[in-house]
Amino acid sequence: MTTDYNQIAKEYQASKLQPWRTHLERATLLQILGPIQGLRTIDVACGEGYYTRLLRRLGAEDVCGIDLSSKMIDLAREQEQSDRLAIEYRVGDAQSIDYRASLDLVFAAYLLNYASTVGELNAMCQAISRSLKPGGRFVTVNNNPDDPPSNFEAGSGYGFTKRLGGSLVEGTPIVWSFHLPDTTIEVTNYYLQKSTLEAALHAAGLGELRWHAPRVSNEGIEQHGSDYWRPFLEQPPIVFLECVKRG
Ligand SMILES: C[S@@+](CC[C@H](N)C(=O)[O-])C[C@H]1O[C@@H](n2cnc3c(N)ncnc32)[C@H](O)[C@@H]1O
Repeated sequence: MTTDYNQIAKEYQASKLQPWRTHLERATLLQILGPIQGLRTIDVACGEGYYTRLLRRLGAEDVCGIDLSSKMIDLAREQEQSDRLAIEYRVGDAQSIDYRASLDLVFAAYLLNYASTVGELNAMCQAISRSLKPGGRFVTVNNNPDDPPSNFEAGSGYGFTKRLGGSLVEGTPIVWSFHLPDTTIEVTNYYLQKSTLEAALHAAGLGELRWHAPRVSNEGIEQHGSDYWRPFLEQPPIVFLECVKRG
């Protein structure tokens, strides 16, 4: 069943404080993004705006965060009230966005893994593509479809585990549990093979696909040591992807 983020908005926000979020997830996304000053950008599935604020602080312009969950958008707007960055937040479905080829960059952390069917995935990829200018970039991170179920407990050292809701076929739920200091929350993604993602992106007019493995920041190594990160890096539970709107 689709995760209702309205029920767990605050707890999900707390999960962004786990060290792997900063030192692997955010560090890798920063490297992939590179300089983004002046780029017209949206953050789809923005949640409470963790990356929306980062994109703005990196110099992106006209930044808009969009999410299906009104509670997530409430949290994002609260932060915008207390620390104004000129970000607009909207409740909306990624499948129906249309910025009419005006954007330089579409960013989405953990969106595509919410597609439970090829139809939903195609709708997301087409919406992203029709919003981008030719030459504009799509940058994303998602559950790693190549992470084998035998590795699903390996995240416990970092504060999360995964479990499979059936046999490993397209559309099968993958339930992530985030083990927080006071509680555990669960979010449900769906398994779609890398080749299915690639086909949907290509069909939507997005090319130059590059998959990226996570990289750890220097601060992460200084604070936790290399051994701490080894299991995550050797069999990554998440995977990064960038592609470009064809001209
Ligand atoms: C795992 S959270 C990630 C939030 C944020 N990107 C981050 O990294 O902190 C996934 C988010 O995707 C949103 N979401 C799921 N399906 C969506 C859709 N079809 N359109 C827009 N947002 C969606 C959820 O409401 C949730 O806030």
